[in-house]
Amino acid sequence: MVPLPTMQWLDGCLRLLDQRQLPSEEIFIDCGDIDSLADAIKTLAVRGAPAIGIAAAFGAVIAALTSDQGEEFDDAFHSKIDILEGTRPTAVNLFHCLEIQRDIFRRNPGRENAVRALLESAKGMVRSDLEASRQMGCFGADLLKSGSTVLTHCNAGGLATAGLGTALAVIYEAWDRNLLVKVYADETRPLLQGARLTAWELSRAGIPVDVLPDSAAASLLRKGEVDAVIVGSDRIAANGDAANKIGTYPLALAASAHGVPFYVVAPLSTFDISTPCGSEIEIEQRGRDELAHLGGRKLLPAAAGVWNPAFDVTPATLITGIVCEKGVLFSPDTESVHSVLGRS
Ligand code: MRU
Repeated sequence: MVPLPTMQWLDGCLRLLDQRQLPSEEIFIDCGDIDSLADAIKTLAVRGAPAIGIAAAFGAVIAALTSDQGEEFDDAFHSKIDILEGTRPTAVNLFHCLEIQRDIFRRNPGRENAVRALLESAKGMVRSDLEASRQMGCFGADLLKSGSTVLTHCNAGGLATAGLGTALAVIYEAWDRNLLVKVYADETRPLLQGARLTAWELSRAGIPVDVLPDSAAASLLRKGEVDAVIVGSDRIAANGDAANKIGTYPLALAASAHGVPFYVVAPLSTFDISTPCGSEIEIEQRGRDELAHLGGRKLLPAAAGVWNPAFDVTPATLITGIVCEKGVLFSPDTESVHSVLGRS
């Protein structure tokens, strides 16, 4: 599998495949300043936990390049990092990658040094993410038997990472090993990452994919047509509870009710040991517009309010296993999460 061109560093700016336009158009946007990058992250031109973190790490290079040298240089850099940190609250990779970049900035005084070290670090994150995807792909595919059909939610593919994916890395590897018959992709209301992005990625790779309304998933699971549910995550708490796209939790409940294994695939950079359990994870609330309009058509009467959480939390007790680059944590709990992070 060749990595998708989710993001590329081009002399002083970050080129992003604009995911808001997929699958109708494959166009790229160039972000050469912090405001345009922050806007791209907020409006989901780039999205998915690992991709947000890595894009922000390149953003730190942009922050150093675009801050005036002199007495105010450090403050200007850190306030630009604050802007990036304020874009999306749930995916821990954003904070994790920016903390690494802040530390590198402190240890490399002067713009030239800082830019060199920050860029090296961001490129290193791309390499580690690709390597983690390959490893997760192998560990995850080992869990599937020949002739499997799997169900996924949202997009945890190359578009959501440096180019290969988490849940979809497992699917790509299983396809390469001839284990897979078909993938079902929840459309993933309201922004349709499953229909627009996962179906685009899988079709591009020649993998058969059927899209279903999110509300049809429980019926599909009851029919016994799915061998495993495989999803990504935006943040895994110390006890193994996992935040992911809204609609993941009901999927886990339905999988448990129908005896279908439920796997979360995420690199160690998505684990957050400082958050003891899922109820402490901040869930991003998004705007009214995402529910009030569809394809340019007004859907809601003006008087109707909305509740639009972008993510939900699946309790560890509903997770059969978390696949990371070190292996699989079956029935994850505080002990196994601490133990795998201790090994990193
Ligand atoms: O709002 P999004 O599109 O950024 O949400 C993305 C997800 O929920 C993904 O499943 C998650 O980030 C894992 S990506 C490997």
